[in-house]
Amino acid sequence: MKKIKQLEIPYTELETRTDLSPEDEKLLSLAEAARSRSYSPYSGFSVGASVLLDNGEVFTGSNQENSSFPAGICAERAAIFAARSAYPDVPLKTVCITASGSIYVKENPVTPCGICRQVFSEYEHEQKQPFRIILASEKGKLLIYDSAEYLLPFSFYSDHLND
Ligand code: THU
Repeated sequence: MKKIKQLEIPYTELETRTDLSPEDEKLLSLAEAARSRSYSPYSGFSVGASVLLDNGEVFTGSNQENSSFPAGICAERAAIFAARSAYPDVPLKTVCITASGSIYVKENPVTPCGICRQVFSEYEHEQKQPFRIILASEKGKLLIYDSAEYLLPFSFYSDHLND
């Protein structure tokens, strides 16, 4: 029997950053500061990310490119890997991402690549509690997701490898 199913993805859209809570606004400011430290001479696209952990610590990261292109890393992975390297057992609470360098991201929130979504997905699955993701634009609206699941439904997890 064939069933057509539909998936609903809940998320919050904010008109401006002034609609953020003070805690989220702080994370965005830290992500912007990280963005200014991006090394992106090849794309000209600067990305900054901040990660708030359950213990209140914040880590940041920016995209780091390389003349050997695949050697580069996205800002959000740089930030999450730094956080997880320092506190492997402390759950991620919120990840905030901001970008500059194109007309698109002036008004529209930056959307993470598939590799970063896969990384979000694995850590969320492993920590057994969802974390929030804030996607910001440079000057316009923002999107907030309450779980990484909403950015990568039908995810592949390591436990699919085992019997
Ligand atoms: N990039 C990020 O750092 N995060 C994203 O969410 C999108 C893309 C980086 C990777 C590369 O350095 C540049 O932006 C262009 O793809």
